[in-house]
Amino acid sequence: MEKKITVLSGDGIGPEIVREAIKVLDKIAHKYNHTFKYTYVDIGGCSIDKFGVPITDEGMEKCKGADSVLLGAVGGPKWDSCPPSIRPEKALLAVRKELGLFANLRPTKLFLQLADSSPLKQSVVGNGIDLMIVRELTGGIYFGERKTEEKNGEMYSYDVMSYYEHEIERIGRVAFDCAMKRNKKLASVDKANVLDTSRLWRKTMHRLSEEYPQVEYSDILVDNTAMQLIKNPAQFDVIVTENMFGDILSDEASMLTGSIGMMPSASLSSTTLGMYEPIHGSAPDIAGMNIANPIGTVLSAAMMLRYSFDMAKEADDIENAVNSVLNQNYRTSDIMQEGCRKLSCSEMGDMIAANI
Ligand code: IPM
Ligand code: MG
Repeated sequence: MEKKITVLSGDGIGPEIVREAIKVLDKIAHKYNHTFKYTYVDIGGCSIDKFGVPITDEGMEKCKGADSVLLGAVGGPKWDSCPPSIRPEKALLAVRKELGLFANLRPTKLFLQLADSSPLKQSVVGNGIDLMIVRELTGGIYFGERKTEEKNGEMYSYDVMSYYEHEIERIGRVAFDCAMKRNKKLASVDKANVLDTSRLWRKTMHRLSEEYPQVEYSDILVDNTAMQLIKNPAQFDVIVTENMFGDILSDEASMLTGSIGMMPSASLSSTTLGMYEPIHGSAPDIAGMNIANPIGTVLSAAMMLRYSFDMAKEADDIENAVNSVLNQNYRTSDIMQEGCRKLSCSEMGDMIAANI
C-alpha cells in the first residue's frame, strides 16, 4: 500500500523523536512492501521563526491532503512571549480543529518491565496498568470565546467552556465502541455537581449507555478521578472526558507508566485521517542532546498504522519490538534502571527497528 504522511516535527526534541519513528516506519514499509511518502511541514516555534506564523496555510493544506499526520512536539521558552494569536500551541489547536480531530485516544499502559520506574508502589501498579483515556479534543474551554480586557479599573479575563450535545454524543460513541473492544467498562468523568456543560455531558452519556447494555457504565467526578487514578488505577478500563479534564488527567495517568516519554496518542476524525503524537512536550532542556525517549512517538506511529491505515499486523510488530527491546534491558535515560543498558534516542530507534 502507498500512504502519504505529513510530518510535523516541531520544536525541541520533536525532530529527534520523529526521526526515530520514521526509521521504524521505514523498516515496516520494507518488511511489508508498503510505500510511505513523507512531506515535512514546519509547525510551532520553528515556523514562527521562518514565516511569522505557527503554521502556514500551505502547511495546513498539506495536513488536510495527507492520509495521516505524524507530530513531534511544539513550543519552548523562546516563544513564550509571542502574542497568543501566534503562539506555537495555536498551530496544534488549529490542526486539531481544521482536521476535525475530535477524538483523542491516550492509551496508558504500564510495561511491566518498567514497574519500578513508576513513582507508585508495586502494590498499586504491580499487577499492570492498562487503561484508555478518550479525550474530547475540539470543544470545551480550549475553543470557547476568550478575552482579556480592562474592566472596573483592573484587568479581567474569561475563557468560556461550552459543548453542543452532538459534540458530546460523537465522543461518547467513540468511547463506548472502544469499551466494547476492551473490557466493556466505561467511566465518564465530569464536574456535574457544578458545571452546566458537565450536566449536559452526563445526560448525553446516560442516553448513550442505553444503547450499550453490555458496557458497565459509571459517572465519576473529575476531582475524585484524580484521586482514584493514584489510589486504585486498576479499577479503570476506558475513561471518557471533556477536553481540559482529559488534558490534565492524561498527564497524571502517564506517571502510572513510569515515564511520560512512553505514552502515544491518536487524534481521530470521522474519516481515516488522523494525527499521531506522543503526549509529552518539546522538552527544550534536553533538545539536541540525543537523549530523549522516542518510544512514545514510535508507539504513536504504531497507532497510525492501526487506526488510519488499517495495518493491525504491522502495528503489532512495532509494539512487540518495543516490548522485546525493554525485555532485553535497553533503556533511555528517563526509564533507566540498575542493570540495564542506557541507549541514546537514535540508538533506541535503531534497536526497535532491528527488532522488527
Ligand atoms: C497535549 C498538550 C496540548 C494540549 C498543548 C501543547 C496545547 O498539553 O496535547 O496534551 O493542552 O492539548
Ligand atoms: Mg497536555
